[in-house]
Amino acid sequence: MTEKKQTILSGIRATGKLHIGNYLGALKQFVDLQNGKGNLSAEASAKADCFFFIADLHALTTPFEAKELSQNTLEVAADYLAAGIDPKKSTFFLQSQVLEHAELGWIFNCLTPLGELNRMTQFKEKSEEQKGQISGGLLTYPTLMAADILIYKPTAVPVGEDQTQHVELARDTARKFNNRFGQTFPEPKTYLRKPLRVMSLTDPTKKMSKSGDEALMLDDPPAEILRKLKKAPTATDATKESPGVKNLFLLLEHFGSEEQITEYSHEQKNNTIKYSELKEALAKAIAEHFAEFRDQKQELLANPKTIMDALEQGATKARKIASQTLAEVKEKVGLL
Ligand code: TYM
Repeated sequence: MTEKKQTILSGIRATGKLHIGNYLGALKQFVDLQNGKGNLSAEASAKADCFFFIADLHALTTPFEAKELSQNTLEVAADYLAAGIDPKKSTFFLQSQVLEHAELGWIFNCLTPLGELNRMTQFKEKSEEQKGQISGGLLTYPTLMAADILIYKPTAVPVGEDQTQHVELARDTARKFNNRFGQTFPEPKTYLRKPLRVMSLTDPTKKMSKSGDEALMLDDPPAEILRKLKKAPTATDATKESPGVKNLFLLLEHFGSEEQITEYSHEQKNNTIKYSELKEALAKAIAEHFAEFRDQKQELLANPKTIMDALEQGATKARKIASQTLAEVKEKVGLL
């Protein structure tokens, strides 16, 4: 049976270097999908068109400094490339360089009820954090995201668990637009495998985000990985459920060997586990996993022009598709 051609799209904000949550929730999947090792059948994956971008316009919704924003954009670009995103295989670009995103975002703003935007969990959480500084952009974050997605008519959007509500809004937007203006957008799948959430190392009841010691950055040197893991809370009684321990095991599942997973799970059940040993083993495994990544990233950052050239070429490719969709939308909504 020949399978339908897949189009995969996803983005990451330019708010600073990436952490292990971004990696497991998103970037690792992107690389696997690009290389035909993802969650699709080999046939579908080989034919998948992949679009991966840096959401620098979305980065403007969190308080920012101009200099930091441009440095952060380069960091995230280097993270993508060092992790294995290949601009020859994937369309890799910067959101702000494909103007059509913002234009479609505006159209979606005008079609989306305020109530729906107010209900978004991320908006509620971020407006708590940003009291007094909440911008219109924070509220309309999901409509720009819907535009980012729908403009390429993807079949699937791999994201971490915290972004599934936004992808759901993009699906609703597609459905409503199609009902009102005629079939235009396919509804993308939210995810291809169960979305996951890596928790903060300092407070494992919150998701890992880009601040302080709560996150393991992909380019953290080995000693830094160990230092941060050592501080992560665990439990005194291993038989009791603890979010900190659960989080360490989530990391072990992804970076540890089969034997380590079996051994530590067994010790955990028997209450004989020494968390200091688990942490050391984990730190070693993570440091090794990213050894090549760290070197590659350094090389890339030493040559920012190569990064910018790759992004510009990607934007040219992306624009070809984005402009077609935008022209179709403008005609359907009656913009001359
Ligand atoms: P951002 O930059 O916040 O996150 C990028 C990706 O990393 C995932 N992620 C996590 N996954 C597991 N555990 C964590 N602790 C964790 N933290 C972050 C996110 O779910 C995401 O997949 N709105 C998007 C950026 C975006 C986008 C898009 C994504 C803009 N337009 C269009 C897909 C399609 C975001 O918040 O990225």
